[in-house]
Amino acid sequence: MKHYTLKITELRRETADTLTVVFKQPALKKIKYQAGQYLTLILKINGRRYSRPYSFSSAPGVDSDLEITVKQVPGGIVSNHIADRLKTGDLVEVMEPMGSFVLNPDSITTDTHLVLWGAGSGITPLFSIIKEALHKNTGKKVTLVYGNRSLESVIFKDKIKALKTVYPNFTSWNSHTKLAISEVNPTVIEGRIDPAKVLSVMQAEGDLNHTLHYICGPVGLKESVKTALLALGVKSQSIQTEDFEIVRDPVAFENISTRMVTVIKDGVKHLVEVVKGKSILEAGLDAMLNLSYSCQTGNCLVCKAVLVQGEVKMIGPTNKPEELNADECLLCCSFPMVENVEVAVA
Ligand SMILES: Cc1cc2nc3c(=O)[nH]c(=O)nc-3n(C[C@H](O)[C@H](O)[C@H](O)COP(=O)(O)OP(=O)(O)OC[C@H]3O[C@@H](n4cnc5c(N)ncnc54)[C@H](O)[C@@H]3O)c2cc1C
Ligand code: FES
Repeated sequence: MKHYTLKITELRRETADTLTVVFKQPALKKIKYQAGQYLTLILKINGRRYSRPYSFSSAPGVDSDLEITVKQVPGGIVSNHIADRLKTGDLVEVMEPMGSFVLNPDSITTDTHLVLWGAGSGITPLFSIIKEALHKNTGKKVTLVYGNRSLESVIFKDKIKALKTVYPNFTSWNSHTKLAISEVNPTVIEGRIDPAKVLSVMQAEGDLNHTLHYICGPVGLKESVKTALLALGVKSQSIQTEDFEIVRDPVAFENISTRMVTVIKDGVKHLVEVVKGKSILEAGLDAMLNLSYSCQTGNCLVCKAVLVQGEVKMIGPTNKPEELNADECLLCCSFPMVENVEVAVA
């Protein structure tokens, strides 16, 4: 895994709790990425290293610099550190871009209608994808359905508006819990994005043939939009989703209890207490082990480890990723099932 050091050239406020961090693209070895991918920032805060992925809000070929857009999470360690402590000129360590929430040229034709569904900070990868699709004239039509609490919390409000004036094939629908449809706001939906609204938007946009959907936002949004689209006959392979965080079902933890786990790193054995509810990764990080990780949703495989002994349960990813060998597990989603579990990391 390649790491880079990037210089911050600008910090730009987008809304009261969201800001864009602009990094200078290195002059010689430019960082290659695809619209919809993410950059993992590694920051040292109070003596501990934290890794957090942030989707690019910039798009390659459109924006000359690398941009991420961060929403401050109440009580969040890294998002608030970025907002309160980082400044122009600071150097930040990052991992190479990762992620598969991208436009796949094999599934796009000149008739493709791209429909992007988002809420809150979920707009970031969608905005990157929209810019790239419009700039490269990918597909026939691009539609954004974007949910927010109020008009003030809409990230990229003016930029989305500007894109609509430049590209006649781009439409956007906004959903605000506090606004109603009116003659001056014909594309504003009242309330949260829900299946009924999905249906009304799709009917207003024409038929569903050739649609390709990208969803990024809270689990509730993802599930309701996906369910509605599948019920309308959209094929599951035409729906791509990105998760910013994982929501685990408490029932999955019923047979799990606090246990000691041995983590082998660089040939050295560390005995770590894994308290019920914490993953082996979280417990290892709490014990100040320098473990590599990024997404914590079971997607990037950066936290891959070999299960040397014992049994773990992976909670989170619906399927064990194909890229994992039979004796491998993801520490961010692994919970010990027996005593004397031993895992080895690179
Ligand atoms: C692939 C990927 C891409 C991402 N892209 C972006 C992005 O473009 N912009 C962005 O702002 N964030 C993005 N995130 C989320 C980001 O990585 C962090 O999880 C988020 O900033 C919170 O980190 P923190 O250290 O501030 O909070 P933590 O200290 O880790 O958590 C504090 C509390 O907030 C909750 N929490 C954690 N993440 C979220 C969240 N996303 N929303 C609401 N509550 C949360 C936790 O459950 C915990 O209770 C992305 C995540 C992934 C996996
Ligand atoms: S940190 Fe990404 S899969 Fe575990």
